Amino acid sequence: MAKDIRIVEVGPRDGLQNEAAHLSLEDRRQLVSLLASAGLRYIEVGAFVSPKWVPQMQNSGTLISGLFELKKEKVISSGVQFSALVPNPTGMKDALQTSLTEIAVFGACSESFSKKNINCSIEESFERFAEVIRLAKQNRIKVRGYLSTAFGCPYEGAVSPKVAVNLVQRLLKMGVYEVSVGDTIGVATPKQVRLLLRKLKDKVSLRKIAMHFHDTRGTALANVLASLDLGIRVFDSSVGGLGGCPYAKGASGNLATEDLVYMLHGMGCRTGVDLAKLVAMRPWIESRIGRQLPSRVGQAGVPSHRYDQ
Ligand code: HMG
Ligand code: MG
Repeated sequence: MAKDIRIVEVGPRDGLQNEAAHLSLEDRRQLVSLLASAGLRYIEVGAFVSPKWVPQMQNSGTLISGLFELKKEKVISSGVQFSALVPNPTGMKDALQTSLTEIAVFGACSESFSKKNINCSIEESFERFAEVIRLAKQNRIKVRGYLSTAFGCPYEGAVSPKVAVNLVQRLLKMGVYEVSVGDTIGVATPKQVRLLLRKLKDKVSLRKIAMHFHDTRGTALANVLASLDLGIRVFDSSVGGLGGCPYAKGASGNLATEDLVYMLHGMGCRTGVDLAKLVAMRPWIESRIGRQLPSRVGQAGVPSHRYDQ
């Protein structure tokens, strides 16, 4: 039986935060609108972080108000769920000025990365998340959790699966509905993915786990396959393979949404995404970011024949 897979599109956030070109608000709005019209139903559109740290995400509040206007005008379907990153109560206060019904907190599995990315220790970050989650619950806002460097850290090397399992459990206990486990610098192979997911399965329901792969070393789709076999049904990806993380050197693009969708559809999975529409966005995005996108399916195009019979 075909599997339904939920794709969380992170291009407008994880993607754009690492592009040298800073897109205008109008272009960011247009990007989200195009993604929604290609069938993406979960889109992370911005981040309430410091503009001094990540200037690409500035004015996310204004962007989000514009996107809700597009929903009202039915340019964007009412079924599309927007979300944005929130690191601390300051960011949450800004998020509360918008109509968002979902946000995401983001922590790390290694101390050095936590310090570089959000300027605090893992323990301090969890204290901040507790307050963010409290404010979110008070305002009926759903919270997703991210854990970066779950397989490896650019500063500390390999990360023990025990660390990730413990932090996933803590985030779930705090009230996030799902944890996205991140291979931030694209070092994992299917062996590590299976090991971590088997350990996680002993402690939490894998229905509460999403996987977030970066394709830095070409292992992202292999890691998706390993995750699918173990029961994961939610994957983060970014259109064209945009992205990375400004505080993880070498964290090149996220797994490209086109590549993920092509493989999933070819395996009989359903995503709700129109692959041809997604691929057709490519020239527009490339013209805005001023470089070629790495997605393989984007470069090769959607085949005119079906090969999945
Ligand atoms: P900080 O400097 O430690 O904050 O930054 P602070 O509390 O000391 O305050 C200093 C100043 O920042 C103050 O302003 C605050 O008001 C302001 P001043 O008085 O100097 O004028 N400030 C803020 N401004 C806007 N929004 C806020 C905010 N908080 C304080 N929320 C902070 C701490 C977390 C804000 C900073 O470190 C930051 O913005 N970091 C950026 C983190 C980021 O966006 N990283 C990329 C995303 S994570 C990622 O990509 C990984 C992921 O994709 C998964 C994966 O791949 O593994 C999720
Ligand atoms: Mg990422």
